[in-house]
Amino acid sequence: MFVAASLASAALAQQTRMTHEQAVARARRLVAKMTLDEKIAELHGIHDADHYRVIPGIPRLGIPALHMTNGPAGAGPGGAGPQKRATAWPSPLALAATWDPDLSREYGRLAAEEARAFGSRLFESPDINIARVPQGGRVFESYGEDPYLDARIAVANIEGIQSAGELANVKHFDANNQETQRFSINEIIGERALREIYLPAFEASIKEAHSASIMCAYPRLNGTFNCENAPMLTGILKKEWGFQGFVVSDWGATHSTVPSALAGLDVEMPTGRYFGDELRKAVESGQVPMTAIDDKLVRRFAAMIEFGLFAPEPAAKPIPAFEHGAVARSIAEQAMVLLKNDGNLLPLDRKTVRSIALIGPWAVRTSTGGGGSSHVIPLYTVTPNDGLQAALDLEITRFTVSDGADIDAAAAAAARAQIAIVMVGDQDSEGRDQSLDLPENQNRLVAAVAKANPKTIVVVKSGSAVLMPWIDQVPAVLEAWYPGEEDGAAVAAVLLGDVNPCGKLPLTFPRSADQTLAANPEQYPGVNGEARYSEGLEVGYRAYAARSMQPQFPFGFGLSYTQFRFDSISVRQQPGAANANVSFTVTNAGQRAGAEVAQLYLGFPPIEEGNEPPLQLKGFRKVMLAPGESKTITLSLDPRSFSYWSVKAHAWQVAHGDFEVMVGDSSANTPLKATLTIR
Ligand code: BGC
Repeated sequence: MFVAASLASAALAQQTRMTHEQAVARARRLVAKMTLDEKIAELHGIHDADHYRVIPGIPRLGIPALHMTNGPAGAGPGGAGPQKRATAWPSPLALAATWDPDLSREYGRLAAEEARAFGSRLFESPDINIARVPQGGRVFESYGEDPYLDARIAVANIEGIQSAGELANVKHFDANNQETQRFSINEIIGERALREIYLPAFEASIKEAHSASIMCAYPRLNGTFNCENAPMLTGILKKEWGFQGFVVSDWGATHSTVPSALAGLDVEMPTGRYFGDELRKAVESGQVPMTAIDDKLVRRFAAMIEFGLFAPEPAAKPIPAFEHGAVARSIAEQAMVLLKNDGNLLPLDRKTVRSIALIGPWAVRTSTGGGGSSHVIPLYTVTPNDGLQAALDLEITRFTVSDGADIDAAAAAAARAQIAIVMVGDQDSEGRDQSLDLPENQNRLVAAVAKANPKTIVVVKSGSAVLMPWIDQVPAVLEAWYPGEEDGAAVAAVLLGDVNPCGKLPLTFPRSADQTLAANPEQYPGVNGEARYSEGLEVGYRAYAARSMQPQFPFGFGLSYTQFRFDSISVRQQPGAANANVSFTVTNAGQRAGAEVAQLYLGFPPIEEGNEPPLQLKGFRKVMLAPGESKTITLSLDPRSFSYWSVKAHAWQVAHGDFEVMVGDSSANTPLKATLTIR
């Protein structure tokens, strides 16, 4: 039923889609018929009792309204009228932890289909800002600390969104990397870090995934607000990258009329404070040429025409809640990262485990997502408690549950049970950054339970990295992120070994807050309204490697219930050329089927303008292997893989010399090494 419906809508999209050139020509003819007042009305949203997140249509010209919906974690309830329910997917950071672009494509497609069922045709997603600091309030909403992983997950997600007939809206351009003072902070970012760390995922979203739209961000970048930043919006985005879509402001991120209009902002949201009457006056006085206005309209109308938005919309179908929920559960399962498993305490054997004490605030409530604009009201939830009980045989396993508010009582319950499972977590939110400590007294709870029962398993449901001061006192830790509406079922499947964990960290877990940029307030959260990105390229694991710091858990890390072996690396390269194929073998050396993420990092030769950090991710592949099975993987490197951004030349340049090729299962464990030379 669901498959048939999506095939039908795909066929419709096929029929109504046309080439970009045809769409531009039609958009131009349309704009030629518009009065100035009509043009101005189409350059901003409206927000009143009956309207929100919408640019109204013009019936006289057959222009449909454009309704917008968040966002990165599923179809948001917003817009005017009753709040809507949708699938609450695992957090986008969890999606990144799958290291699986195919899952990202599916996530994007299904979430966008739900937004479309709400009558929305622009999906404010994905959020691809880099997790520069794990304290960032929107880290849960985005794809982690590495630009390459970010780009691979983003491209697939956008392809998925747009295959559902929705306009993707990749955000926030650029460097919306902290929530502290997000409306005003001035971020001082060097050209090389901007190009190598904060722009590559946007570049791929435009050049590879052809995102139909992009959202400019709240902060200032090197002194200029992002939504009036001509070098960024016109220079890099539209001219250099050839972006043909339209730029939408974040909600309230527009700060001017003429500078924004001339810099390349195309739509002001949510209202026309600057792009309403003020813009009309600026056109009439000649400060903004009509060609600039027409260009903004043509960009948006062409995208809408190309995506079939000017054609009649098929009747909305109800969301197939359980079918989508099953996909959400599978993604949550594949996102979980097994951080510690001493003595193979996990997986639990449901045929022999005699008693379990389930404890903690996140044992009795479903972790459906973070706060702010990405919030989704789920169609249904599976609580951790229900999920685990349903998966166990309660004739064999005696089961108790408590929220852990009374720590002494929780410890006593743990002492009476064979196994204690503590579920802790947080609910990060847009609008505020968070401390790296688990909130309330959860660290004390874990320590007390661990003291009472040496077989304590900790399940962490966090938006970002958290500190684990109790790590040495517990044998097993599973990072489940925000698993979404199927939390209970997904976590139970991994704890009981129905699913072998295969997630890998998309960001480093520090040992202490002073390993992060928070150690220097000038870098984060900034002093006198200015955040200096003086760390340059040393973001995330690049910083740990450059400064020989040992994190709690490194980027790319994650255990399995089986073991993998890497061997036989070989590099094929035309002598001296900036292209190479790196091949190697991964073997499942254990007793269970499981998936491994093979990761390829490069170490650069010395560069006169300044060296690169010791290693950077340039390729990865997730492979499923039966016990004893081996697969040979080949990863390709292209000229960009070997390039750095030259500030002297204002261009990418291939570095020359010996590169170290490193392959393994995390940024801190690369058993395979080879050298290749670029001349
Ligand atoms: C956007 C967000 C933005 C927010 C403000 C939303 O609709 O998509 O990314 O920051 O508005 O809450």
